[in-house]
Amino acid sequence: MNSSAPIGVFDSGVGGLTVVREIMRQIPDERIIYFGDTARVPYGSKSKETVTRYSRQIVRFLRQQNVKAIVAACNTASAYALDEIEKEMEIPVIGVVKPGARAAMDVTENGKIGVIGTEATIGSQIYTRYIKQYHKNVTILEKACPLFVPLVEEGLLNDPVTDEIAMRYLSSLSDSGIDTLILGCTHYPLIRSTVGRVMGRGVTLVNPAYETAHELRAVLEKEQMLNLSRPGLGDNQYQFFVSDGAEKFIRIANSIIKYGILSAKVINIEEY
Ligand code: DGL
Repeated sequence: MNSSAPIGVFDSGVGGLTVVREIMRQIPDERIIYFGDTARVPYGSKSKETVTRYSRQIVRFLRQQNVKAIVAACNTASAYALDEIEKEMEIPVIGVVKPGARAAMDVTENGKIGVIGTEATIGSQIYTRYIKQYHKNVTILEKACPLFVPLVEEGLLNDPVTDEIAMRYLSSLSDSGIDTLILGCTHYPLIRSTVGRVMGRGVTLVNPAYETAHELRAVLEKEQMLNLSRPGLGDNQYQFFVSDGAEKFIRIANSIIKYGILSAKVINIEEY
């Protein structure tokens, strides 16, 4: 595999851009192909079978773009589909759940960790199962926050409606004594300040994106696949694909990534 090949990153919509942002920061010479499944978002209320089928289609599309590694920048896809996809792949596949869980284990001092995510991620209890493998005595409180994803996809990042919903979802968690909260959905770092206000200063918010980009870098390094030649101006270093609504995607994407995204190509993902 050519080390100058791009990395494929996918999510159900714009949320995975929080991971892309971190990859750009930590390994700035890498090329990235991003796919946001904007026609079929949200994934968090769908079944394991459906999310696995969607994820397989996206992986097939990314493979056709000759990517050298794949990042499932979506907790729901990581929870439901990653194990199966990993087995089918001969290139590295990295999810966001394990890196996020490891970061939380490093951060907590009182051994009480909260996790917020989609109904699918929370229902799968993947964070609890993973953390308990290492620390049996840690207490983990999980809470699904299904309205957060549509609020973010609508761009309501700083809005009284988002504040109100956050109060309703998080007030029980903020009184629970946790000292660490995993933002277990890649959309949630975009409303980090709202979540932080409700949770209060005593709770550290963990964004799995940092640890995921770190793991990606380590894997590429180990496989000797880091891109050693800096892409030039005409090299199309970052390319964005969606399954619907390119203009809306571009608008929100530009508020997340300060790169100046000019275009996103719409593809029919059902063909893959
Ligand atoms: N951003 C995704 C996640 O991390 C998916 C959200 C959704 O589509 O429901 O779970």
